[in-house]
Amino acid sequence: MGNTKNLSPLGLLSLATTGAALVSSKGSAGRLPALGWSSWNEYGCDINETVFLDTAHLLIDLGLKDLGYEYINIDDCWSDKEKRRDPVTNEIVVDAEKFPNGIDTLADRLHNLGLKIGIYSNAGTSTCGGFEASLGNEETDAATFAKWGIDYLKYDNCAVPEEWYDDWKYVPENWFGGGANENQDDGEPVNSKTDQPAPSGYDWATSNSAERFRRMRDALAAQEREVQFSLDWDMLEVGNGDLTLEESRSHFALWAALKSPLVIGTRLVDIKPEILAILANEELVAFNQDPTHPAEYWSGESVRGTHVFVLNTLEVAAKKEVAFGEVPGLDARRRYVVHDMWTGKDLGYFKGSFEIDVKAHDTAALRINEVGKCGGKHH
Ligand SMILES: *[C@@H]1O[C@H](CO)[C@@H](O)[C@H](O)[C@H]1NC(C)=O
Repeated sequence: MGNTKNLSPLGLLSLATTGAALVSSKGSAGRLPALGWSSWNEYGCDINETVFLDTAHLLIDLGLKDLGYEYINIDDCWSDKEKRRDPVTNEIVVDAEKFPNGIDTLADRLHNLGLKIGIYSNAGTSTCGGFEASLGNEETDAATFAKWGIDYLKYDNCAVPEEWYDDWKYVPENWFGGGANENQDDGEPVNSKTDQPAPSGYDWATSNSAERFRRMRDALAAQEREVQFSLDWDMLEVGNGDLTLEESRSHFALWAALKSPLVIGTRLVDIKPEILAILANEELVAFNQDPTHPAEYWSGESVRGTHVFVLNTLEVAAKKEVAFGEVPGLDARRRYVVHDMWTGKDLGYFKGSFEIDVKAHDTAALRINEVGKCGGKHH
């Protein structure tokens, strides 16, 4: 059994719907959450070679590299916004003022410091900042990134052309305070032909969105170099804006516990000691990086009862046991009604424990109530 327990169902919701990193067949990248630093949250487009080299040295001097932080990630705005692509090679043209020695030279320098380098592109016609992006040029760009020595690609989702719109609107919406279908920057609806949600049973793996991201996944996988492909659970805000110290701790602790990449998003120059102490907490980073089998059991209370979620991370179906004595709030000696939240049906009365067959990569969603105290609205 995994050692992450008793997190709220809300945490699971985020885990199940967002985290995604390509586990490369070549080596070890992506098998554990990435640890690193990204320029976007604090520098935005005001980046240059010096920012990344200075940050790399600070990552080392502050002891963060020793804790495992290794990626120095260039976010949006690294290319030449006017020239876009080289007319001969079709490669994206690097901004020569920001990176006078080229990104390949920066990659060499970071590698010489024992670090890795990330870059940014987008599955549309331009990046969220309006720079050149990779849709339709996936093979060229993956080859260019590999040639430069890039180790990590963050792949964004702006400027989707109409011919790539999905047939259906992605629902549920408003999870993040706005329509899931709206471009964060300009509020324009993007990405679907209709406002209609997909019919039940629709396979999103057949959508245009899935295909746009698969194309870059395949292009990266075709390179000899191992490049980690990063979608969602982006970078941390710890140390930024108006977050209180307590909010920064909550942010870091839960991202660590839910096995998100921990990509620092704050300025390391003059970092406050109390912020560094959060990012450099050895025990939390170690928990995030724990190599044992990922957490598979989650539980939490709601007004309807005690909920248990059981994830099967294996490639094959598995029988999973929920031992009531191990679930906070339940008692090994009591009899319970186990209810399947997917089918809406009760599975029967059980004492001590409950066993369920979970298909490969599926998650059982259960509600467990004391006999006679059903929390469901249907009872
Ligand atoms: C590099 O960027 C930093 C941060 O935006 C800025 O302070 C610095 O002046 C820039 N350096 C050069 C040489 O442009």
